[in-house]
Amino acid sequence: MNSFNNSISKTTFSLTTPLYYVNGLPHIGSAYTTMIADVIARWQRLSGNEVLFVTGTDEHGQKIQGTAEDSGVAPQEHCDRIADSFSDLWAKLNIQYDRFSRTTAKNHGVIVKEFFERVYAQNDIYLDQQQGWYCVACEEFKEKRELSEDGYCPIHTNLKAEWRDEQNYFFRLSRYQSALEKLYQSNPDFIQPETRRNEVLNFVKQGLQDFSISRINVSWGFPIPNDPSHTIYVWFDALLGYITALLEENEEPTLENALKKWYPFNLHLIGKDILRFHAVYWPAMLMSANLPLPHQVFGHGFLTKDGHKMGKTLGNTLDPFILLDKYGSDAVRYYFLKEIEFGKDGDFNETRFVNILNADLANDLGNLLNRSLGMLNKYCGGILPPILGKNIPDENTVKQIANVITYRFPESYKSYKFDLVCEDALSLVRSCNKFIDDSAPWSLYKKGEQKEVEKILYILLESVRFSAFILAPIIPNISNKIYNQLGYNLDFNQKDLDLKKGTDKNHFEWGILPLNQNLPKPNPVFIKLELPNLIDKG
Ligand code: MSP
Repeated sequence: MNSFNNSISKTTFSLTTPLYYVNGLPHIGSAYTTMIADVIARWQRLSGNEVLFVTGTDEHGQKIQGTAEDSGVAPQEHCDRIADSFSDLWAKLNIQYDRFSRTTAKNHGVIVKEFFERVYAQNDIYLDQQQGWYCVACEEFKEKRELSEDGYCPIHTNLKAEWRDEQNYFFRLSRYQSALEKLYQSNPDFIQPETRRNEVLNFVKQGLQDFSISRINVSWGFPIPNDPSHTIYVWFDALLGYITALLEENEEPTLENALKKWYPFNLHLIGKDILRFHAVYWPAMLMSANLPLPHQVFGHGFLTKDGHKMGKTLGNTLDPFILLDKYGSDAVRYYFLKEIEFGKDGDFNETRFVNILNADLANDLGNLLNRSLGMLNKYCGGILPPILGKNIPDENTVKQIANVITYRFPESYKSYKFDLVCEDALSLVRSCNKFIDDSAPWSLYKKGEQKEVEKILYILLESVRFSAFILAPIIPNISNKIYNQLGYNLDFNQKDLDLKKGTDKNHFEWGILPLNQNLPKPNPVFIKLELPNLIDKG
């Protein structure tokens, strides 16, 4: 039947965030997915891979049409305005995406049409009557049993599902039941984490139903080829936005052009609420069009605030713009990466936020750099001692910890265990702070044991460097400040940073700090935050 290949190995890595709805300003949920994607992209680049990071906006459908009408502007004007606010937010959050895909782009319409026609030619699209309950906020038909007694979907408790009875075009999803089951079985990593995979397996086991891919009475969308009385269902159009993003600027919009370099995607990063679309509908659509499938769909958890579900009606939304203006991008990135086990639900609480950042970045990491550079200035005239990592005895506790972490942290990045990456970097830092107290370099200095003092300072400074390197994809600005104070002239925000250039030193290992350099007096890398002035509801 269809050929699809999941096993292409490449030194390129392509990944996507969802294309965000433009029905309102970006919220913390969209910021969360995007910062994770950015960390993965940065890690891949740092590891020497060629990366394409796609994000963008999903701009069609009834929901957007309705929001534009409510705000009294033409739909396209509304979309332009909100799409701009997304790119503003990504700049504030220090996101280095490569492509911003907008589903109202002209070239996207051409790609959607070509794809639709391919699927149609497979006899996978037919006209039928659609009856059912539709949640406009989800842009999805719901089973009666999925709704509350008074007709609300569990995610959108403020918007009643609407009854629909209309002619729609359908996609023959049922035809792909066994092909999908085979896919999940032969590629256990296709859906991650495991809990989400199980959710999908259970859903598919119940038997797949064809789903409608057109709407009447919704003008804000692409027309169905040869039947402009219908527009294409927003999800069918939106998923293809990933593919349109692969076209080079001004390239002729054909599937062949789009698919030639970065395809298939290595990773679609999404929230758990849109898992079905990505792990069931999308691969089936691709199989129908006879296109290769993405390697992995990862569905992360949901964020709550102070233990409560966030929502405009609940009055407890967390505005990412305000958060970033108040605390800066590194702080926000660090909290969400460190505090939440990726894949699970997680909570934001401002008091905890401030406490964690102060403890980890100001007290532990910042202070270690501060103390070590201070002592270097005092005891060695600011010059890095002529010692090599390999000269430090293997029994040294700090070196031992560093050596274990050298093997572990790349694995943690690869398996998206960002909390462990942070834990490892911080445990190295803490072991250094303890090592300072245990070895008391000030008294060795007084006793004239200069060589010992130099060794200790080397261990400390190299460990700060190594921690900064490990954390660079997460807190690039702080890592830059640390690296610069250690005498490096490199910038972790430089997309094409080539770590191999000009040095044969491997930053991924402990023990490489360049010697005999004159280092500056310490400069704080993270200023302690004030506890928020609020009544903590947590
Ligand atoms: N437009 C679709 C995606 C189409 S992809 C081809 C969409 N957009 S969305 O803007 O509503 O949601 C985008 C992402 O935000 C989803 O991954 C969703 O899971 C995530 N989040 C929305 N609220 C969230 C939280 N409270 N917490 C974490 N992520 C959440 O769906």
